[in-house]
Amino acid sequence: MKHTFIKDVLLNKKKWLNKSVTVCGWVRTSRDSKTVAFLEINDGSSFKHMQVILDKEIIKNFNELLPLCTSVKVTGKCVEAQNNSDVLEINAEKVEILGSCPPEYPIQKKPHTLEFLRTMPHLRVRTNTFSAMFRIRHALSEAIHRYFWDNDYMYVHTPIITGSDCEGAGEIFKVTTIGYDAKNKFKSEADYYANDFFGCQAGLTVSGQLEGEVMALAYGKIYTFGPTFRAENSNTSRHAAEFWQIEPEVAFAEIDDIIEIATAMIKYIVKFVLEKCPDELALFERFYEKGLIAKLQNVVDSEFEKLDYTKAIDILKKSGKEFVYPVEWGCDLQSEHERYLTDEVFKCPVFVVHYPKDLKSFYMKQNPDGKTVSATDLLVPGVGEIIGCSEREADYEKLKQAILDRGMNLSDYDNYLDLRKFGTVPHSGFGLGLERMLMYITGIGNIRDTAIYPRAKGELR
Ligand code: 4AD
Ligand code: MG
Repeated sequence: MKHTFIKDVLLNKKKWLNKSVTVCGWVRTSRDSKTVAFLEINDGSSFKHMQVILDKEIIKNFNELLPLCTSVKVTGKCVEAQNNSDVLEINAEKVEILGSCPPEYPIQKKPHTLEFLRTMPHLRVRTNTFSAMFRIRHALSEAIHRYFWDNDYMYVHTPIITGSDCEGAGEIFKVTTIGYDAKNKFKSEADYYANDFFGCQAGLTVSGQLEGEVMALAYGKIYTFGPTFRAENSNTSRHAAEFWQIEPEVAFAEIDDIIEIATAMIKYIVKFVLEKCPDELALFERFYEKGLIAKLQNVVDSEFEKLDYTKAIDILKKSGKEFVYPVEWGCDLQSEHERYLTDEVFKCPVFVVHYPKDLKSFYMKQNPDGKTVSATDLLVPGVGEIIGCSEREADYEKLKQAILDRGMNLSDYDNYLDLRKFGTVPHSGFGLGLERMLMYITGIGNIRDTAIYPRAKGELR
């Protein structure tokens, strides 16, 4: 269909002023007045809509064009908008209806709650909030790839179906073609799955890290960017069953090196979104988080805090707060604890470093104190953890023992152990959750509003 994209017209005033143009789009707002009617249409090429003026003498069927989400093809002359000479609007000469939209279309011109919009994921993408969200998601993904490209990382694709549990938390979705068979329920799991597609138990990956390490120990600096899956039994506003993770893995990097890399990457991607998506961010600033843009600018301009886990426990104990989960050295930081540290004490991103080893996964480098590991989480105000990060245990014997201590199967990790046998080196990596990062960047409070079809317990559309 021969037409010009709205973005082209909006961005190139000189080229289009007083010229005739044909644009397509959906009616996003409409207003009727005495002799003219106004449409704002959007074809997806731009966050901003294009205003179309309908002279009722010329466009006789203007009434049929007013229902929201009617799809149209408009031909007319580009003129300076009356209220803002910097932008163009179109004086329609001919309007063709491509698809009408009946009045039961559920998204009308009134405020709708995010909860209401969640019931119609296929339609909410047409609203301004979700247009801003998905444009930022797109820009953020581009920023991430650019950061790694500019810094000589190799993008690697790790498998989605795996036989290992990287985080050792037993939150794996099983992948099976035989399903559950009551007749066989007394067999051991291993026997049972011997008849399955892979001849063993398989699942959806919770993290690409283990395969990422394989690649990093051949190519130095790599990153993954792909979907990961967790059957977490928690129904919270920041847990999804399917989420995208960005996992760089860097050979010859120790914990402080990887913290520097994570900091640089976060600053880079936030700066990129600030530059590329000012209109989208303005929407979130206006409707979802006052001070959002200043907060993001501050992320770019200021240092992040770095805080020992032991010190964090001290601060929490001295806070005088009544936490639901009591605080003792050795306890995991719950979201209420993270929130206190980020929202009330530091008010900026905070790396909490050197967690107790019993809280963390088998692969993390054990510190000489025998109690903690070289691991850090990056916590941010309003969201909590957005990055899980560690130096990896590079010593064969210590790693083997950590696997055994957790009752895990050594044979499932033979490749992984080999990496420590054949030319082991210090190396480190981290995982950034894309949707958590989006929550932080947009101020949206629920992870379900960062993905097209969010996956969570009991929720599959
Ligand atoms: O802290 P996690 O579990 O770390 C790992 O998976 C490591 N293997 C990463 C690595 O070192 N390569 O998860 C990393 C990040 C979290 O900080 C969080 O942002 C996100 O992934 N995440 C989730 N996001 C949404 N829903 C969930 N259920 C998430 N679980 C983790
Ligand atoms: Mg974590």
